[in-house]
Amino acid sequence: MDSIIVTGNGPLNGQIPIAGAKNACLTLMPATLLSEEPLTLTNAPRLSDIKTMTTLLQSLGAEVTQMQGGQVLALSSHALDNHVADYDIVRKMRASILVLGPMLARDGHAVVSLPGGCAIGARPVDLHLKALEAMGAELELREGYVHAKAPGGLKGGIFEFPFVSVGATENALMAATLAKGTTVLKNAAREPEIVDLAQCLRKMGAQIEGEGTHEITVQGVDRLHGATHPVVPDRIELGTYMLAPAICGGEVECLGGRLALVGAFCEKLDEAGIEVEETALGLKVRRRGDRVRAVNVTTEPFPGFPTDLQAQMMALMCTAEGTSVLEERIFENRFMHAPELMRMGARIDVQGGTATVTGVERLKAAPVMATDLRASVSLILAGLAAEGETQVNRVYHLDRGYERVEEKLSAVGARIERVRET
Ligand code: UD1
Repeated sequence: MDSIIVTGNGPLNGQIPIAGAKNACLTLMPATLLSEEPLTLTNAPRLSDIKTMTTLLQSLGAEVTQMQGGQVLALSSHALDNHVADYDIVRKMRASILVLGPMLARDGHAVVSLPGGCAIGARPVDLHLKALEAMGAELELREGYVHAKAPGGLKGGIFEFPFVSVGATENALMAATLAKGTTVLKNAAREPEIVDLAQCLRKMGAQIEGEGTHEITVQGVDRLHGATHPVVPDRIELGTYMLAPAICGGEVECLGGRLALVGAFCEKLDEAGIEVEETALGLKVRRRGDRVRAVNVTTEPFPGFPTDLQAQMMALMCTAEGTSVLEERIFENRFMHAPELMRMGARIDVQGGTATVTGVERLKAAPVMATDLRASVSLILAGLAAEGETQVNRVYHLDRGYERVEEKLSAVGARIERVRET
């Protein structure tokens, strides 16, 4: 398995281009299943999760062609010849469940394996299923698979999510576009990836109102048509690279970044002593003093502080002045990076969903293990500021969500290299 070696070496300066959002692309790709006409996605990120979704869609009979080195994806589902999403593909990535709603809505039947994914808590899919049931789907769970039917098609309905779920909102939204009548999704997720999906679906002919608010209303149509859509910039990759100059000093401009994507995160950066300036090209970030101040963070659904930036923020807090309390409210068991950071000299006390971090002046390099996608990048950030050479092992998680991380960080002066296992 590949590992990454990072050597702490002071300030970073330059520009980092931000790719299209992994999580947006993973929901835009299955939208192809809603139409017989082609869907073209531009600004797609080049990641292993995108490859997994490609394999899944191809297994259903969709055509997926990569162009411009993978930045453009041409998708076509004119002839779906299989309606079973197999365990062997689905287990690799939880977002695979997003093929369920579209397949069911278009063809009235689908069989999808229950997903696996990152080891960050139980992560059930009950809300996805309940929302589809509210549209008249008949579901049965057998041998690890969801068997779904909608004889006569899905029908519009009102569904209130008991709590906010990004994936369940996406699945329900896609399904509702082809359901008969009106569907109202209450307590819907408001993430930028949902807004991006709604905008793409609208280009395909869907009638949607209220995306980005708690209530989304969809007027079902008979069929959707082809469209071309650029994937929204990745706010998590953006936040991650904004933390690089925050941790190491210097000034980095994240190209393509927008404040609207990272509002709550920027408020915390400001409190910690990091300046963020919106420029014509993106977001420019610099640290005000020598050391950041400790801040408290609670993860929440958008527009709150994103859970996907919690591990990276913890890496920053490890060398902050003072004590910070990080509360994880979205996922249980999402502090697996804490013991690894402690191997580097961080002072962290985890009690349930709360981590208390007491900043130390400098971290020290150590061999560490990446446990999940965001945890792996937090260890790289920590390594950038540590004394010595940090070896981050099991970086395959990283490749699921960050394209060319070594290249992007080297370009701003970081000493980072990948050691390939032969
Ligand atoms: C998406 C993102 C992920 C991010 C998360 C929260 C993708 C591909 N992934 O994941 O990176 O961390 O949003 O911002 O977009 N839950 C249930 N039942 C369900 C669905 C969810 O109990 O049917 C729970 C989850 O276990 C979790 C919470 O709801 O505790 C929120 O999960 P959700 O918003 O659904 O996350 P994902 O869509 O899986």
